[in-house]
Amino acid sequence: MTRLRTPKTVTADFRAQIQRRKRLLRDIGDGVAFIPTAPELLRNADAHYPYRFDSHFWYLTGFAEPEAVLVLVGGKQPRTLLFCREKNLEREIWDGYRYGPREAQKVFGVDDAYPISALDSMAASLIANREQVWFPLGAQAGFDQQVTGWLNQVRGQVRTGVTAPRGFADIRTLIDEMRLVKDRSELRTMQRAADISAEAHIGAMAATAPGRNEYEIEAELLYAFRRHGAQAPAYTSIVAGGANACVLHYVSNNAPLRDGDLLLIDAGCELDGYASDITRTFPVNGKFSGPQRDCYELVLAAQEAAIRAVKPGAAFTAYHDAALKILAQGMIDLKLLKGPVARVLESGDFRRFYMHRTGHWLGLDVHDVGAYSAQSKPRKLAAGNVLTVEPGLYVRPGKDVPRHFWNIGIRIEDDVLVTADGRSILTDATPKSIADIEAVMAGA
Ligand code: GLY
Ligand code: MN
Ligand code: MN
Repeated sequence: MTRLRTPKTVTADFRAQIQRRKRLLRDIGDGVAFIPTAPELLRNADAHYPYRFDSHFWYLTGFAEPEAVLVLVGGKQPRTLLFCREKNLEREIWDGYRYGPREAQKVFGVDDAYPISALDSMAASLIANREQVWFPLGAQAGFDQQVTGWLNQVRGQVRTGVTAPRGFADIRTLIDEMRLVKDRSELRTMQRAADISAEAHIGAMAATAPGRNEYEIEAELLYAFRRHGAQAPAYTSIVAGGANACVLHYVSNNAPLRDGDLLLIDAGCELDGYASDITRTFPVNGKFSGPQRDCYELVLAAQEAAIRAVKPGAAFTAYHDAALKILAQGMIDLKLLKGPVARVLESGDFRRFYMHRTGHWLGLDVHDVGAYSAQSKPRKLAAGNVLTVEPGLYVRPGKDVPRHFWNIGIRIEDDVLVTADGRSILTDATPKSIADIEAVMAGA
């Protein structure tokens, strides 16, 4: 079994967040920006969902408590303000530690910090005489309303000589662009998240055998994530045996695993806010059958070609096109479709067996932010971009489909960093070749 490559603890590094705020302050000119974190969500009765901060807020602060808003005041003397919960002995006895403004100001390196309860009374004066107000427009209905309320307060004061802002803009358009290019501190965390997920997949392979249940394998993944300090899965794990692998978003994870079937696992941990996203497909009994091998080799060839197409300057769409060309030809060779390949590509017939795109940006969100195109042209990849490469083949039964391929569902997914001279596969510690998978499953 491979060993994790990076140190066990990732220490908080708020210098990176300070740099990001500085950059954003330059981008907003003399405007003012309000960036709220996510609200807590009730699950049922008085039980909450596990709390997850807002990704944009986290990117700029590293502050994990709910009920907090970051304010960036642009201009000649730029300032960053954090509004957060006050210290509260009673609440801290029940729910745990809170920084409170005074401590938060020191630890997170903001210029000033205030109780969140003071925001409503201070916001109008922060907005007054500013041309532009930035916030995540439309992200949280309650916050949109709050900002509108502040605006109306300022409008109510115009006879006293203040001017109300004329422009409102979505701060996410600026932050999304920043988040597309990962900095050193982000890449350290993402590599560690990838390593933990790789080890989880290896553990899942080793634990898989006929007669076990999908949920037992899901439990192995969760155990590996938490054991190494990842806070949660980055998305609901897909543990799909046999025909379940042909359900793209299968999350029931409660069927017994059968001898002769494949198992598709799409699972990745979230570490300190950052997602990893890995899919592997392997035989429940440890040995690929002939038809499984044929399909697997095809998807693997498509994935390898797609990974080679990831490089700086390449169009975002190039790696999808590379995978698709190989998959379409393979569908013809395996007699799933009739050629020629140009017609299969042109008509979209391949969608019967491959119906999703080959990948997405990856970062704080598993489907990370950032435009995929600009002026109707695909974005060109740049060093620091991180994306997934995840072609697949899903064969549902059909009269015109060779029976030996029925219910085979395969996806192979890695997380890839675009580097100055090519790419680096963050998840390459996860076994992928048939030989490597069979060796792990044989107990190597
Ligand atoms: N696990 C989500 C995805 O692969 O896009
Ligand atoms: Mn995935
Ligand atoms: Mn993915």
